[in-house]
Amino acid sequence: MKKIIGFVSVLFVMALFVATYANAAEYIGAKKCKACHMKQFKSWSETSMAKSFDNLKAGVMVAEKKKAGLEDKDYTTDPKCLKCHTTGYGKGGFVSMEKTPDLAGVQCEMCHGAGSEYSALMKKDKNFKLADAKAQGLIIPSEDEKGCMSCHGGDSPFVEKVDAKYKFDFKDRLKKTHEHFPLKQQH
Ligand code: HEC
Ligand code: HEC
Ligand code: HEC
Ligand code: HEC
Repeated sequence: MKKIIGFVSVLFVMALFVATYANAAEYIGAKKCKACHMKQFKSWSETSMAKSFDNLKAGVMVAEKKKAGLEDKDYTTDPKCLKCHTTGYGKGGFVSMEKTPDLAGVQCEMCHGAGSEYSALMKKDKNFKLADAKAQGLIIPSEDEKGCMSCHGGDSPFVEKVDAKYKFDFKDRLKKTHEHFPLKQQH
């Protein structure tokens, strides 16, 4: 009997583990969002965020790097830089240009959250409730200044004290993320 109880409790702990962790959303990449959000995608593509992986290459933005105390070399495999210049690095997202080229640069999911779960909900039901999408990991950026600051502050080499142009004014930056288009309905 003891053995059976022991076995059942091991199963229970395993089930609990699966229930807690299996639901974690994964990074799917901007191309997947593009299928349904073409206008936002096009506008975002024209920002520096979309090209921000290229800034890690040698010979690119040499003067800016020098001013921030960085020498001119190849940083495209440097974990210190990748965590802010790619999508989901160290969190199951970007690994390397060879393995995960579609997750290079600062994409949709760095502001809106890892998208596998909420995009499935959006696909299933156009009239989804915002609360349900949030429960699946959707972030509304204007409610998450801290999320921005994890890259725009902290240990970023490119902050206001290096050059005033790097100042992060939350309201102003929210507008410059991509052009905004009215939704068909309130969710
Ligand atoms: C994963 C890190 C990361 C997060 C999170 C992040 N950013 Fe950024 N952002 C960057 C990087 C890196 C650049 C600059 C790209 C470059 O020049 O290489 C940038 C650039 C920008 C730009 C300039 C775009 C342009 O071309 O003018 C805006 C605006 C911006 N971010 C707003 C935000 C806002 C608002 C948030 C939060 C909702 C945010 N960012 C969150 C990393 C991040
Ligand atoms: C904590 C996050 C963070 C880290 C770490 C980080 N960056 Fe960035 N980087 C940013 C942000 C945010 C910007 C955009 C700043 C802005 O536009 O206000 C940026 C901008 C840049 C730019 C463009 C500057 C310009 O004037 O347009 C280059 C080049 C760059 N980073 C290279 C690097 C390199 C190389 C490393 C690693 C040694 C690195 N970054 C590490 C967040 C980070
Ligand atoms: C730098 C942060 C940032 C990035 C990157 C970003 N967004 Fe947004 N997005 C915002 C902000 C800010 C809003 C306005 C909503 C709010 O925060 O209140 C928004 C709103 C939206 C909306 C609602 C309608 C609209 O146009 O305002 C959609 C849809 C959307 N984003 C899709 C995307 C897609 C798709 C991508 C990638 C191609 C993307 N976003 C990348 C910040 C970002
Ligand atoms: C299969 C289509 C589909 C995919 C894929 C998809 N979405 Fe959506 N999304 C929708 C629909 C439909 C809406 C509601 C549009 C409306 O009401 O006008 C929506 C709404 C949104 C909103 C606004 C939510 C609100 O109520 O403020 C954001 C932000 C958003 N999507 C981001 C994303 C991001 C980021 C991705 C990729 C990770 C993505 N979506 C993938 C279909 C999709």
